[in-house]
Amino acid sequence: MPSSSICYLNGDYLPLDQAKVSVLDRGFIFGDGIYEVIPAYGGHLFRLQQHLQRLDNSLKAIKLTNPLSHTQWQDILQILVEKTQDHDNADQSVYLQITRGAAPRDHAFPENTPATIFAMSHPLPATDMEKIQAGVTAITLDDIRWRYCHIKTIALLPNILLKRQAVERHASEAILVRKGQVTEGAVSNLFIVRDGMIKTPAKSEQLLPGITRDLIVELAHKNGLPCEETAISETELFSADEIWLSSSTKEILPVTCLDEKTIGAGTAGPLWHKMIKIYQAYKQALRAGAETGAA
Ligand code: PDD
Repeated sequence: MPSSSICYLNGDYLPLDQAKVSVLDRGFIFGDGIYEVIPAYGGHLFRLQQHLQRLDNSLKAIKLTNPLSHTQWQDILQILVEKTQDHDNADQSVYLQITRGAAPRDHAFPENTPATIFAMSHPLPATDMEKIQAGVTAITLDDIRWRYCHIKTIALLPNILLKRQAVERHASEAILVRKGQVTEGAVSNLFIVRDGMIKTPAKSEQLLPGITRDLIVELAHKNGLPCEETAISETELFSADEIWLSSSTKEILPVTCLDEKTIGAGTAGPLWHKMIKIYQAYKQALRAGAETGAA
């Protein structure tokens, strides 16, 4: 993403390399803020209402008022997408964050401090199906994070330390386990397939309620693919026929190697092939501007 790429900061659109915030911003000092990552396919923001609802939920959880209405967010993000649309690569990933603003450093909440509102967008590489079908490698790690993983906070130090361990072990993701139960990835949600049943951990404070996760569950039900939101033990993870990771940026990634053990046949499984076709069709419909109902 060129540094001259246009971003949004506190009411202005300006080149990224000219966008400045105070060093006393609580996002910078404390990680006191919330974020969202929203794909835009062909200029159409994907599942925007669901992302804005999750944003509201996260802001409420940290007792920060949303400084903008959903309509204002939609207008700002749509303008940003149009200003940064690179016509060669029609897809984008929009990042937005809200912090509690700039104030003298004090753990206590500041009074009457305007929130800092920032958004940027960068090209989202087209899905390389050949590469993805080969699957990715993952490792399992103890879920060291705090108790409120359902909040999409910018305070991501635990997540990046977990991701670092995966990178050091030449893996794409760390699949996290808390007291013998799988929660999610460091930067993704998790699915397994066992005897034709798609399973994903039920939503709780132990994992992020992923927008992609919810869409996969919705599309599975709509297309008659058995899908259950239920606890997954570490033992079940290793005996799965298929393991998938899901996120707005990675969509649905098959894991074919976990802690150096081959999963299934060592390539993307049959249910992944079915689900990815359904998911791509959903995206295509949106890209064409069709109202897909659940958009
Ligand atoms: N992360 N779990 C965690 C911990 C995540 O960070 C993410 C996404 C997800 C998937 O959520 P969604 O389907 O709404 O993208 C699950 C984003 C992509 C990021 O931090 O870049």
